Amino acid sequence: MKQLSIWARQISPSLTLAISAKAKALKAAGKDICEFGSGEPDFDTPDFIKEACIQALRDGKTKYLPSAGLLPLRQAIAKKYECENGLTGLSEKNIIVSPGGKFSCHLAVMAVCSPGDEVLIPSPYWLSYPEMVRLAGATPIFLKTTFASAFKVTVDDLRAAKTDRTRLFILNSPSNPTGTVYSKEEICALVDYCVHEGIYVMSDEIYEALVYDGVQHFSPASVADYFPYVITTGGFSKTFAMTGWRLGYSVAEKGIAEAMDNLQSHMTSNATTFAQYGALAALQNEALSKASVESMRQAFDRRRKLLYSGLSAIDGMRVFKSQGAFYLFPSIENFGASSAFADKLLQEQQVAVVPGIAFGDDTCIRLSYATSDATIEKGIERLQTFCKMYHL
Ligand SMILES: Cc1ncc(COP(=O)(O)O)c(C=O)c1O
Repeated sequence: MKQLSIWARQISPSLTLAISAKAKALKAAGKDICEFGSGEPDFDTPDFIKEACIQALRDGKTKYLPSAGLLPLRQAIAKKYECENGLTGLSEKNIIVSPGGKFSCHLAVMAVCSPGDEVLIPSPYWLSYPEMVRLAGATPIFLKTTFASAFKVTVDDLRAAKTDRTRLFILNSPSNPTGTVYSKEEICALVDYCVHEGIYVMSDEIYEALVYDGVQHFSPASVADYFPYVITTGGFSKTFAMTGWRLGYSVAEKGIAEAMDNLQSHMTSNATTFAQYGALAALQNEALSKASVESMRQAFDRRRKLLYSGLSAIDGMRVFKSQGAFYLFPSIENFGASSAFADKLLQEQQVAVVPGIAFGDDTCIRLSYATSDATIEKGIERLQTFCKMYHL
């Protein structure tokens, strides 16, 4: 066989998807697995959204759409950003609907990065960012953050890493894997620096609806001076428990949005037509949506507290109290490297977690609390037993 391309050779498989697949296979084989690996809500998509999609199928909405998406959906997304996120002057021309938030991020990177460019990524990071950057021929530059700094970067970190080739800064608040949420002031300081230096910002806000303890989500694109430099990405997966629908979106200045649409038109064409009708219902039925999202958010919040207090009671584990998304990212430094820890934990106690090394930090593990209270309680007991033995 001839050698594969440089793109195929440099890409690694998604470790989070691999771990979830392994845990699912063990479950299917009858093992009693406590699953903390998965990055998806355990809730089902609200019925009114499903019904709208089913109706669209019955109505024959089974054809191609314009690649940027269904017009009323793009308009509804523009309205959502104006009403909820404080952006102004948007039209459908600023909005691209894509097959998943992951693809929205990919398009954003492809739209502004060229070979030789550098992209600043706070670490630990969502594991797809570096791969997307490499697929654009650019180089990821990691900005290390720590437990002590609440896993946040500062302007000094950006300044120290910036070179003539710096093209893009990736901000993800609330963050996967740490769950950290930047304040408005912190985001403005970072984006202000980028705008002054002519650096684009991709603001991945896919977890925007999942914040706790009264903290507020902030979209930097709501600042008029920042808007031309900020590509905002989001989606339906996490907010509306629609991971399998594969629907994401991006908001950008018209020239960038048009470039993203051109790329998408050759890479996938439009996101699934009838799925977009379900998404439209999610945005149009405000009262129903708010109620569903709020009840999921409250359940996540309860589980976050349950998992946090359980893990904090384990000797040798240090737990960062996240305020967003549905992950905790405790330090297991006292027990050694994260992959060995996660492997043994799955083998010996049937608890699936993701080793922090997948996100660029080998001292932590990621636990998703998008799972039942009963699983959390059982998982904590098993972790306690495991950590006692691991000490010896
Ligand atoms: C930080 C972050 N961004 C984007 C996505 C993409 O989500 P999806 O492609 O399911 O919309 C994910 C999913 O795990 C994520 O964690």
